[in-house]
Formats: sequence, structure tokens, C-alpha cells
Amino acid sequence: LRARAALGRHSFYQRSSETEELQTSGSQEFGVTFTDHMLLVRYREGRWETPAIVVRRPLELDPGSSSLQYGLQIFEGMKAYRPDPAGPETEDVVRLFRPRENLQRMYRSAARLALPLFDTETMLHLIEEYVRTEADWVPVRDLPDDLRPVSLYLRPCLISTDARLGVRRAKEALFYVIASPSLGGYYSGADPAGVALLATDEFVRAWPGGVGDAKCGGNYALGLVAQELAHAEGCHQVLWLDPERNVTEAGVMNFFVVTSAGEVLTAPLGEGLILPGIIRSAVIELIRGGSVPAQANGQPWQVVERSLHIEDLIRGIEDGRIVEAFGTGTAAMVCAVAAIKYRGRTYRLPEAADNHQRLSIRLGKAFERLLFDPGRETSAHPWIHTV
Ligand code: COI
Repeated sequence: LRARAALGRHSFYQRSSETEELQTSGSQEFGVTFTDHMLLVRYREGRWETPAIVVRRPLELDPGSSSLQYGLQIFEGMKAYRPDPAGPETEDVVRLFRPRENLQRMYRSAARLALPLFDTETMLHLIEEYVRTEADWVPVRDLPDDLRPVSLYLRPCLISTDARLGVRRAKEALFYVIASPSLGGYYSGADPAGVALLATDEFVRAWPGGVGDAKCGGNYALGLVAQELAHAEGCHQVLWLDPERNVTEAGVMNFFVVTSAGEVLTAPLGEGLILPGIIRSAVIELIRGGSVPAQANGQPWQVVERSLHIEDLIRGIEDGRIVEAFGTGTAAMVCAVAAIKYRGRTYRLPEAADNHQRLSIRLGKAFERLLFDPGRETSAHPWIHTV
């Protein structure tokens, strides 16, 4: 708040008293406050129509639309950040993180869900324009003590507006973008040591040939009952297992484990089981590119994309070979895992003697530098897209 007040020209607080209240009252629930505008682009008669940025309001949708009937619907999650103020001359810019990757993934999701395809570069330009419209909503961090990754969460969506009960490819659709200031972690209220995950045999998120690698609403709807089960068992989220009981994802995040030998394991893409996360691939590239400090013994970390069976995960925690686990995602960024519960037993990941040695903490710091460092070098980083 203080830092924001110092940056007089950002009227974020004046405009968003609701968000200010959230911030000062300590309630920072994800995705409950929305900005003033939305971007709309309609698809009709085989072409995309003129886009518009309009005041946010309810959509008018025929009740027979196949997005409502059959789930012809996809979305993305991306974030806009404001670099830390470095001085009076700080450039007033907003940064997006690898937005082309979001739009390319959205294109693949559209193809999988039989929705109209679009030119990803055109959509990127429209999103840039939208972010400029909503720039006052992109929060500034309370420096120097605020380490929360505050941002403006952008939610591009593509839904079928085709009003016909026959099951067919969407002939009419709406691409729209809404935004929500994100002030806390996705799992607010979680123990700082990390979240607890319930591995379940009862529900499966994805299967070979399915849509687990597309970002469609159904993939999240099917997880809710399992998530409630996880809550009932004292856990925050589900650790998803595939039909062979290999670990795949953690709630709405990709999942990584770290071994005492310095291996960083995550499930491989392919077969439609894993969402190709933008933060997942950035984590892999940061580690492979040597952008996080080496292990305590000086050796580099080794990323291995391979399947890990739940029994091997548990045995690894029990015999000390698995020393850390974390989830990654745009909403949650890097989220430590403290415990895994399976078939009634809880397996706690070891507590770190020195938290700063943890890979998840080092990765979190690497992201923080990339997203908030006001330096020109950071602004020129190929992953940073300045608006
Ligand atoms: C994200 O991490 O951006 C997601 O889309 C997960 C979510 C459903 C909040």
C-alpha cells in the first residue's frame, strides 16, 4: 500500500476499494475481484469479427449453446506483472510472462475441443491492448517486505455460442478475456511448509487419448469431488494418479519431486495425460540452463521427465531418497508440498535444515527476479514480454 501510494499515478487503490479492503483485511482469495473491462471477439460465419474492449458485464448466451450443453469451452491463465519501482525514472511498464506459449497452448486446446482456430499473434496484440486498458489494476508490490507475487491474473476464454443441440463442431464462438488482481498465493491459508496432497485411487483426472493436455473446464470440474475428499481427509489438494497409478499432477498444478541424488523428476508430456504447463517448462529450462544455484554439494540438478509410480514415491519418502516435492502453475507459481497421504497413511517430506537450499525456494526466487526486477537486462529477457 505504501509503495503504491508513493507511485501516485497508479490509481489502483482509488479504483479498487474492494481490492484494498481485501488487502488490508488479509483476505486475498484468488479470483474473486474483477477489473472493469473485458475483451470480446466473436466468431460467426467462418470468420472472426471486429474485436471490442467493453465494460465488464454478463454475457448474453443462448441457453442451447454447445459450451453449456457439451462443454465446448477452453481457457488460459496468464499473469501481468509490474516491475518493482527502482526510482522516479522507473519505466511505467507491465510485463507478461511467455504469453505466446499460452496462446499456442490455447490454439491446441481449441483444436482438441473442436472450436474455431485463431491467429495467435492477432490475439496477443488484442490482449496487449486489453492489458493497457486495465494497466491501473496491475498491482505494485509493497516493498521491501512484500515477497508475494502480486499480479493481474488474465483469463482468456473461448466458448462455443453455437445454439444447436446436435453434437457438432462449434460454428459460432466467443473469445473473451477477463482479469482479476491476484494478491496472495493460490492456496491462501496453506502451511508455509507447503500443501498436503491426497493421492486417490478412486478418481482419475486424465487417460491416454483423453483431454488431460487441453485446458478445458471439464478437466477442472471432474476434480471437485476428489478435492472435497482431499479436504475431508485434511489435505489441500489431490495428487492425481493415472490408471497405472503413476503420479501425474497435483490439484491444478504440474508436479515435481527432487531426489537426494539431485534428480528433479516430473511426468513426461504426451498421451494426453499432462497439461503442458508454462511454469512447468520454465522450471525445466531454468534448471537445465543453470539459472538456479547448484545443489549444496556443488553438483548441478538433473531434470528427468519420466513416470513415477505412487508406491515408488512413498518408498522414496520413507527411505529418504525423495527429499522435496512441489507443484507448479500460473496461479500457484511454485508451491511446496509438505506431505502426501495415501490409503490412510501420511508421508511427510523432510523439513529442510536450511530452507534456502530448497529447490522450490530457489526456483521461486528465480521467478521473482525475472518478473519484478526493474533492470533493463530483465526487461530484455526473452521470456519477458513488455506491454
Ligand atoms: C492456472 O494456474 O492458471 C490455472 O488455470 C489453474 C486454475 C484453475 C486456477
